[in-house]
Amino acid sequence: MQSNTERFPKGFLWGGAVAANQCEGAYNEDGKGLSTQDIAPRGIIGKITKEPTEDNLKLIGIDFYHRYKEDIKLFAQMGFKTFRTSIAWSRIFPNGDDAMPNERGLQFYDDLFDECLKYGMEPLVTISHYETPLALSKNYDGWVNRKLIGFFENYCKTIFDRYKNKVKYWLTFNEINSVLHQPYMSGGIFTDKEKLTKQDLYQAIHHELVASAMAVKIGHEMMPGAKIGCMILGVPNYPLTPDPSDVIEAMKQDRENLYFADVHVRGVYPKYMDKYFKDNNIKIIMEPGDAEVLKNTVDFVSFSYYMSSCATSDLTKAKGASGNIISGVPNPYLESSQWGWQIDPKGLRYILNLYYDRYQKPLFIVENGLGAVDELVIGKDGNKTVDDDYRIKYLNDHLVQVAKAIEDGVDVMGYTSWGCIDLVSASTAEFKKRYGFIYVDRNNDGTGTLERYKKKSFNWYKEVIRTNGKNLI
Ligand code: BG6
Repeated sequence: MQSNTERFPKGFLWGGAVAANQCEGAYNEDGKGLSTQDIAPRGIIGKITKEPTEDNLKLIGIDFYHRYKEDIKLFAQMGFKTFRTSIAWSRIFPNGDDAMPNERGLQFYDDLFDECLKYGMEPLVTISHYETPLALSKNYDGWVNRKLIGFFENYCKTIFDRYKNKVKYWLTFNEINSVLHQPYMSGGIFTDKEKLTKQDLYQAIHHELVASAMAVKIGHEMMPGAKIGCMILGVPNYPLTPDPSDVIEAMKQDRENLYFADVHVRGVYPKYMDKYFKDNNIKIIMEPGDAEVLKNTVDFVSFSYYMSSCATSDLTKAKGASGNIISGVPNPYLESSQWGWQIDPKGLRYILNLYYDRYQKPLFIVENGLGAVDELVIGKDGNKTVDDDYRIKYLNDHLVQVAKAIEDGVDVMGYTSWGCIDLVSASTAEFKKRYGFIYVDRNNDGTGTLERYKKKSFNWYKEVIRTNGKNLI
């Protein structure tokens, strides 16, 4: 029997993850342009507004833009080996199509990455995390327009050149497959979801896939030694029953997501998409050179994992379980979070094996965590804290399954827990749903001092990292 110390490889990248738009705030400071998030006060569940409105909690976020030094110091206290954040594209190119970058935006990330490196923490950078410059969305309809490939290429060249000596790990598009469900938030597509044709949606996806491969190509040329990965919203689909029709349905639903990783890893469209395109009368317009660019495949596959789902061919049962982006049929064997997300630690072992068998590429879990209502109390030492045993249990149970997957033979590079510090949620844009090891005093109505307090899970995670997983049970 292997001891716990050996269950995670030496150099395993333990850490935490956030995204610029959910924590930085400072939405209009130092030359930043508006992003799609700045006019989405209710996240993906509500309507967008004409202008940024005060009830949009993301405009201030947790004021990470001004407090990052304090926060990075806390992450360092937990022993983070890596910190995942995104670069807000509209801080660098306020309108997305500007000729020149915004120096103050570039300087902010220089300072942020220096602060991480000061503590020996590798920045893990998402190039685009649900925060397309608003002007690209309004004026071009986001990724529906092929011109975005060029703007994105220019943005990538700028940040690669600037941070090539500071950032080794890069992710192209956050949860790239989520564009299927959230075209505005994920793809900056301004056309109403209801009016968006499948032709335009899949053409937009093609543009993103080409842009992602282009980023890998120029990233490798400009930064030898850099590791560039794709990022997939990982939700495995189980057949609801052993009925073979349910098994086929699960296969089909899995392919909707796997298709994105398949292109990133294999460098070509999978054969099964031919039928899908034919059945749905979709004709992907491939320009000369696209097929060649797609051959620039990723170094690793990263993904988020919060839940699994069930698939059924029986339409009368085909609804019920919630999720932030994808919802499916409830699994009677699983419990749910306060937001209705089904909790399935074993699903993480399953998806790690599924991806590794399919791709034989290193895998990186770059999001996983429990969104819950936390209560601030006075701890034994007189400091404010949260007794978040439920979060410790959730994370422990998932990490035990990661260890089992590693034992199965899966190559796992690292694990960054989502929302390592409380932040504004993506789907509902609220503050009440907290993921962090660090409590931030901010409420749904916008009140709060923005002070930071360590939760019980803070010291627990610190111990996980210190012992390289030995304290997991
Ligand atoms: C992922 C996103 O889908 O889930 C994050 O990449 C998001 O941006 C996370 O915050 C959790 O979702 P939510 O809606 O609870 O914030």
